[in-house]
Amino acid sequence: MLDQSRAVSLALLVAGVFVLQKVLDFRRAVASINNLPGFRTLFNERFIWFPFRVRGVSPGIQSEVNLYRKYKDFEEAGWDIMSGVSVLPSGHVTLYLADPVVIKEVIGARSRFPKSLGPYQILLTFGPNLVASEGEDWKKQRKLVAPAFSEKNNRLVWDETVHIVDQLFATVWGDKETIDVANITDLTVPITLMVISVAGFGRRISWKEDTAAPPGHKMTFKEALNIVSRNLFIELLVPKWLQRWGTPYLRSFHTAKQELEAYMQDLIDLRRSSEVKEERHDLFSSLLDAHEGLTISGERMSDDNLFGNVFIFMIAGYETSAHSLAYALILLALHPDEQEKLYEHIRSVIPDDQTPTYEDFSKLTYTMAVFNETLRLFPPVITIPKESEEDTTFTTTNALGEKRTIPVPKGTFVTIHTPGLHNNPKYWDDPDAFRPARFLGPYPRDAFLPFSGGPRGCIGRGFSETESIAALSLLVARYRVEVRDDPRFAGETLDERKARLCRSKLSVTLYPTCAPLVFKRR
Ligand code: HEM
Ligand SMILES: *[C@@H]1O[C@H](CO)[C@@H](O)[C@H](O)[C@H]1NC(C)=O
Ligand SMILES: *[C@@H]1O[C@H](CO)[C@@H](O)[C@H](O)[C@H]1NC(C)=O
Repeated sequence: MLDQSRAVSLALLVAGVFVLQKVLDFRRAVASINNLPGFRTLFNERFIWFPFRVRGVSPGIQSEVNLYRKYKDFEEAGWDIMSGVSVLPSGHVTLYLADPVVIKEVIGARSRFPKSLGPYQILLTFGPNLVASEGEDWKKQRKLVAPAFSEKNNRLVWDETVHIVDQLFATVWGDKETIDVANITDLTVPITLMVISVAGFGRRISWKEDTAAPPGHKMTFKEALNIVSRNLFIELLVPKWLQRWGTPYLRSFHTAKQELEAYMQDLIDLRRSSEVKEERHDLFSSLLDAHEGLTISGERMSDDNLFGNVFIFMIAGYETSAHSLAYALILLALHPDEQEKLYEHIRSVIPDDQTPTYEDFSKLTYTMAVFNETLRLFPPVITIPKESEEDTTFTTTNALGEKRTIPVPKGTFVTIHTPGLHNNPKYWDDPDAFRPARFLGPYPRDAFLPFSGGPRGCIGRGFSETESIAALSLLVARYRVEVRDDPRFAGETLDERKARLCRSKLSVTLYPTCAPLVFKRR
């Protein structure tokens, strides 16, 4: 009897000390940043089991809430930097940045603010790669990969995108006056997949084929890539044996992963066995050259690295582009007046029935402005995670322009908050409005960072801009894009309609979940 109550008291004491320790750690962390306002939660935003926003529990920064809130969390916190302090991990601090001056310092100083690799573990599924590396290893990989993103590759991207959209018109849409697209990503995902397939891997896919798995495969390339990228989180949450033997859903992920690996191997074998090594400018051929031969720098890429980077090109190369193209078409459908301006501009650059050439790319400035304004409002990558290597300070401002200096202890997570930056009213007039023309004059360059920047900025920016400008220009030149009429939503206001079409979800990147559009022949 006595022993039992003693054991209970002991357990309570231990629990009490544990809780006290956590409370003290938490208070110390809050004090360490001079009580800068922000999230005070049980978990921090990198706790992947709970990616939602619940007051006091989790900030939900890794979810679509972050996009919907835009700058609002900063407005409430009062400063262009806000904090997140969590109880678990113990007294951990994250600083969220929407201040372009501070962000410029952070992205420019790679060794003082290295990338946090934690959130990128998921991308190591197929091997080490450029996105999920840091330090000397990253430097080596970037040097090997960079030459692949050449002017010649951009030209290939342009020509192939034009070809793919032309084929869509000729063989799929034909002479139909209106084309109903139940879900806009059903159109944009195939386009960007076909582009990355040919400009990334030298493999042309036609609109007609690729609906049945080729001999020796259980899925098409498209299916396998789609399943893997949409469900990549399984890799982190579910052990391998369970993926293999679990529910049909888990098994299909497992199969898709194996299939994708087999397709990558096919590509490698095909390239190796080809008798004549003709000069090719797809990314993969250049990567293989870096893998096989010694490059100028004298470095060589390992097998593991080859697989990892091939996979990264597939994921990075189609998701982000497919989704931004989808948002651009949605925004144009929601703003017919802007679409007319764009149409007039495209027509002035490319007269009727001419095929736009790569030389036209730089003249299509209005298309570029539409693309930029789309990326401002819907940046596919909504957080860019860094951490501080040293004790330092940041100085930021509030709405009145007053300054505040924030201590940044070594080990603090520093997260660039893209939606906050892109909607910061100190830099953007009427930030909610879709106004492409704001990019045609001088605009606050440092407050626009969809591709990140500095030495770790997106290596595929040119690829993506080329592909998107070509596809958008061709689509808008020939068709008027509208929101599909639906009697269920007959009474909705314009704002409700916008909210419905722009509803989004975060997978590896952000995407629109349900946007039915129609294309009407001009
Ligand atoms: C609209 C399209 C795109 C957007 C918005 C985008 C955005 C980004 C961002 C924000 C980063 C930095 C991530 C970080 O530091 O945490 C990044 C890096 C990267 N992106 Fe993109 N990207 C796009 C298209 C592409 C394409 C088409 C490719 C390849 C074909 C690509 C390949 C990469 C790679 C390899 C990196 C890592 C670079 C490094 O760490 O050195 N991206 N991208
Ligand atoms: C679009 O944004 C890019 C930076 O991502 C910039 O280099 C380019 O000049 C901008 N162009 C237009 C027309 O908006
Ligand atoms: C539209 O496509 C997205 C992305 O592929 C998907 O998640 C969503 O369920 C689709 N919506 C409808 C209504 O089919």
